[in-house]
Parts: sequence; structure tokens; C-alpha cells
Amino acid sequence: MIQTVKVRPGAFEVNHSLNQSYDIKIGSGLMEKAGILFRDSRLSEKTIIITDSTVNKIYGSRLQRILSSEGFTSFILEVPVGEDQKCLDTAARLYSELSKLNTERTTTIVALGGGVIGDLAGFVAATYMRGVALVQIPTTLLAQCDSSIGGKVAVNHGNLKNQIGTFYHPKLTISDTDTLKTLSVREFCDGLAEVIKYGIIQDDQFFSYLENSIKQIRNLEETALAYIVSRSATIKSGIVEKDEFDLGLRNILNFGHTIGHAIESVSNLSIWHGEAVAIGMIIESKISETLKLLSKDEVERITKLLKVSGLSVEIPNLDRDQIIEAMYHDKKANRGKLKFALPQGIGKVEIIDDIPVEIIKKALG
Ligand SMILES: NC(=O)c1ccc[n+]([C@@H]2O[C@H](COP(=O)([O-])OP(=O)(O)OC[C@H]3O[C@@H](n4cnc5c(N)ncnc54)[C@H](O)[C@@H]3O)[C@@H](O)[C@H]2O)c1
Ligand SMILES: [Zn+2]
Repeated sequence: MIQTVKVRPGAFEVNHSLNQSYDIKIGSGLMEKAGILFRDSRLSEKTIIITDSTVNKIYGSRLQRILSSEGFTSFILEVPVGEDQKCLDTAARLYSELSKLNTERTTTIVALGGGVIGDLAGFVAATYMRGVALVQIPTTLLAQCDSSIGGKVAVNHGNLKNQIGTFYHPKLTISDTDTLKTLSVREFCDGLAEVIKYGIIQDDQFFSYLENSIKQIRNLEETALAYIVSRSATIKSGIVEKDEFDLGLRNILNFGHTIGHAIESVSNLSIWHGEAVAIGMIIESKISETLKLLSKDEVERITKLLKVSGLSVEIPNLDRDQIIEAMYHDKKANRGKLKFALPQGIGKVEIIDDIPVEIIKKALG
């Protein structure tokens, strides 16, 4: 069964000119239907697929065959795997390739891959000739549940992540949950952290569903995968609709990230993003408990769900002072206050700034 999440970016904003809706199609076996979905979305006959070398090996020629059977011509531009490809140099190389392929404004760029490809190809699509049509085909759990939704596209610059970017929405997103079956277990579990986050910040029933269905999810059962991806897409796009340009409400998506980012960077990225966010969610939940926003039982439920999801719940053996320092460094980079999105029970968060450092230290243990 195909689930459809309709996204209306900026639907709630006044004087918003980019207001345009598109569909996220979610389900098992959807890549086989890509040609039909492209046709239904009235995309032009010429498409350029941007992907990384790993995803290309598994899905590249298959997607070309599927598109060609519906009359679409496609070319593949491959980039090496890795976060370091999310940079202006790679974008510049892709612009040259697009130029060689006589790309026009009506040509469709397809971002086939995880969040790195979604951000990079999305940025290239947004900027080449002031914007060409974009289709997202996310292939990691993180990309299907998080990075492909919300229109943020960017590349890194110097040491700063996502420093050069814009907001640009696709014409169509196809999340084929079967692609999750070729991910490593570590990669899949890493993506689960953000899924659990949605339950904690906005939907206690979804949180209970995750508690009850974690076995089916980790066994990659189709119905369970389609449900978690569509529920995550609905929650994230609902938040994005109300705050397209990240001016306020989107802050609630940062639950677990204030500490998570610091842990990720102090570990020199040996702890992955979702893994760091999982620890961040536990520590930030403990801060909530100290502030009497969350009960001890609720902190235990959160910790248990993360644990059975294959995520480590032990605070890693990293220097606590370095973690605190990294948080304040992030704060300087953001020129803002150190903000926490703290759960107030399961299903609701509150943005609180200027938490005394002693409370943070106590939660870090
Ligand atoms: N734009 C946003 O709103 C947003 C939000 C969150 C994260 N992000 C970005 O997302 C990126 C991380 O994304 P990611 O975790 O998907 O990493 P990724 O894109 O690097 O993918 C992880 C690995 O999985 C491989 N892979 C992808 N799909 C596969 C599949 N189906 N089968 C087998 N292997 C597969 C890739 O080749 C890569 O080696 C970061 O750059 C982060 O900044 C963006
Ligand atoms: Zn995140």
C-alpha cells in the first residue's frame, strides 16, 4: 500500500511566495513505480540522477531501467561516499557535468541516496540556473524520516556544517522502504534515534507504538517500516509547514541535539549523529527531570526504548569539560543562546535557554 504525505511548505505563513505543495510517497516496492510517479508529477523527459558510489552500485542502473520503461532518459552523476563530498568543490564539479549534459531548467535532478546526497544534490538543483526541478529518492532511514523533509539543502564550508545553503523543496519524494533492507544494522539503528525523537517531542501515541512494535521494526517488517516513515514525515512536515524558514517552532526538532552535537564533535565523529542524539536525548531528559518537567519513570521509558532500538545508552567515556566547551562553542557559532528543547512529559517539549551549567554537569554525570 502506498501512503501519501502531502507537504505544504509555509502554508501557515503570511506573504509567502514559495507556497507550493508536493507529495511524499511512502511504501514498499515504490522504486519500481518511479516512472509512473514521475509521469503523474508531469516531470520532463530528461532526468539526471545524482548518487554516491555505494547507492549507485545497488540502485543506479535499476532506477535508470525503471525510468526508461516509462520513456524517461536518465544520466547518472556519481560522487564518492562521505560527508566530505558535501562541499562547494563537489557542487562545482557537478555544475560542470550538468553543463556538459546540456541541462535545462526543465531537466529533473534526482537525489538518490542518504542525507549527504539529498543535501548536496538538493543544493545543486536549487542553485543551478537559479533552480531546476528536484525529486528526492531517500534511501536511508535518516533521509526518509528526517533530512529529505523540510527543504533545507546545503553544503559544508570550512569546519562549519551546512554553512552554505538555502530552502528548496522537491516536486516529489519517493521513499521506498525496501531500500532500508540494504543498510547496515548500525546505519538503520542510527536513523531510529530521530524517529524516537518525534514521539517524545510531539506524539505520545507514536512513542507507545514504537515501544510495542520495536521487534517488527528491527525485523524490517513492511507495515512497520511504512508506518514509522509516514508518521515521521507527517510530524516533521507539520512542523515545517508552520515554520518553513526555521524562525522558531523548528527548534523543537533540536531535542537531544544541543548535547548530541557536542558529543558527536568531541568523539571526532566516531560516534555517529543518531547515536550521539540518543545519548543527548537521555542527558537532556535528565535535565528535564531535574527541572521537574519529566518523571523518573518517563526518563526510564525513553532510555529503555533507545536501548532496545540498538542504540547505546551509556554516556561515552569522553571528557565532560570538553563536551560542555563544545556546546558553548556551538552557541558562539550560532550567535544565539544555548537553547534546549526539553521534554515536558512524553509528547511535548518546551524551549528553555540559559540552563545553569551545574544542572547540565549533573545530568552528564
Ligand atoms: N537537510 C536536513 O534537514 C538534514 C537533516 C538531518 C541530517 N542531514 C544531513 O544528512 C547527512 C547524513 O545522512 P545519512 O545518515 O543518510 O548519511 P549518508 O548519506 O552518508 O548515508 C550513509 C551511508 O549509507 C550508504 N547508503 C545510503 N543508502 C543506502 C542503502 N539503501 N543501502 C546501503 N547503503 C546505503 C551511503 O552510501 C553512505 O555510505 C548529514 O550530512 C546531515 O547533515 C540533513
Ligand atoms: Zn539530527
